[in-house]
Amino acid sequence: MSAPAIQVLLVTADPQTERQLRLDLSAYTRTRMDLTHRKDLETTLATLATRTFDAAFLDLALPGSHGFDSLHQLHLAARAMPVIVLANSDNETLAIEAVRKGAQDYLVKSRSDARVLSRIVRYAIERKRIEEALRLALARLSASHEQLKATRLQLIQAEKLECIGTLAAGVAHEVKNPLQTLLMGVHYLSSRAGGDEELQLVIREMRDSIHRADLIVRELVTFAGTNHPEKREGSLNAIIEQALHLMRYELIHAHVQVVLDLDPALPSLPLDVNKLEQAFLNLFLNAVQAMPHGGTLSVRTWGQPAGHGVTDARPDGPGPSEVVAEVGDTGEGIPAGKLQQIFNPFYTLKPAGKGTGLGLTVTRRIIELHGGVIEAQNGDSGGARFVARFPLQPQDPYERETNPDC
Ligand SMILES: Nc1ncnc2c1ncn2[C@@H]1O[C@H](COP(=O)(O)OP(=O)(O)OP(=O)(O)O)[C@@H](O)[C@H]1O
Ligand SMILES: [Mg+2]
Repeated sequence: MSAPAIQVLLVTADPQTERQLRLDLSAYTRTRMDLTHRKDLETTLATLATRTFDAAFLDLALPGSHGFDSLHQLHLAARAMPVIVLANSDNETLAIEAVRKGAQDYLVKSRSDARVLSRIVRYAIERKRIEEALRLALARLSASHEQLKATRLQLIQAEKLECIGTLAAGVAHEVKNPLQTLLMGVHYLSSRAGGDEELQLVIREMRDSIHRADLIVRELVTFAGTNHPEKREGSLNAIIEQALHLMRYELIHAHVQVVLDLDPALPSLPLDVNKLEQAFLNLFLNAVQAMPHGGTLSVRTWGQPAGHGVTDARPDGPGPSEVVAEVGDTGEGIPAGKLQQIFNPFYTLKPAGKGTGLGLTVTRRIIELHGGVIEAQNGDSGGARFVARFPLQPQDPYERETNPDC
């Protein structure tokens, strides 16, 4: 079977050039070439919108358009198509400049013959093919580089968190006992202050501050302690239901309606029930706090093949390899550009005294200790959406060696 003909596009308004090229191309019979002729840029671009060519000849002296501009337009319309420019002997310098600007080769009209022409076309096609392969390889290389950078950032982040965890454990230990002493002192003062309103007010403020400091310490302890989960085979659905049960009064009080869509066929997986309950409580609490005038909290779970996009609908395919939990609300959403920062320790947008900024840090840590990932998005119709994915066969999170710098 003979090789398919090479499809060549010829763009020239000069009948003599067209005739000569047709003659030369048909005279060289070793490679069959089909020639399509266009007289101006407009019809050329219209043709390129509907079909592809292996190579094109472009007359730089096309009426109504500048030579380089025609070349540029051809590149835009068919980036992968090699273009050979046709020049008169008096504009050869222009042709060389066109090659610098991306043309594959140039041909001086008066010097063309069948053999030269065929060689130029075949070389141009081959060079363009190599150029395209190089471009693709470069794109792949730069994608891998980006991936590497992201992984490195994740590693740095993980190490930072490990350091914070170690530091937090130490600080929490040192602060817990003095706080207890202070609290006992406040109780004692309160019992001695009797009906002195002003004194009682000062004591109440002291007690509130101590409680707040105690809360931070407790969160730090949890954060530091999240390195050692106690996992047992269980269902994520049960954990979510239990966390919602614990939140029931807050939900009623805040006029938040819960829409549950938990997959009854969700596969079980190794879970630390207490820690995950805390992770979901943090997510639910944030959602309630983001809807001060009420709204809807929706919680979904489903199984899906690993690597399936978090925004995709539930697949109907066989055997899931990861379990996904999605928590959405109808609150104000997360400010643009803050979707990553909200997971950082002590990052809070809540007014002073309202949030410690550790809720999501702890949540992410707990999910990561299950080999999972969590990401925040803003819903299409407003509100925030947190999607957590848990692999059914998690890798051992302790494989990484402890950071000796901590
Ligand atoms: N559902 C949500 N909608 C809008 N913003 C949110 C939501 N969840 C978290 N955020 C933003 O992320 C920030 C960090 O949340 P995170 O839970 O870590 O800390 P916090 O809620 O401020 O304090 P706490 O330690 O008491 O949980 C919040 O201050 C809030 O601005
Ligand atoms: Mg929170």
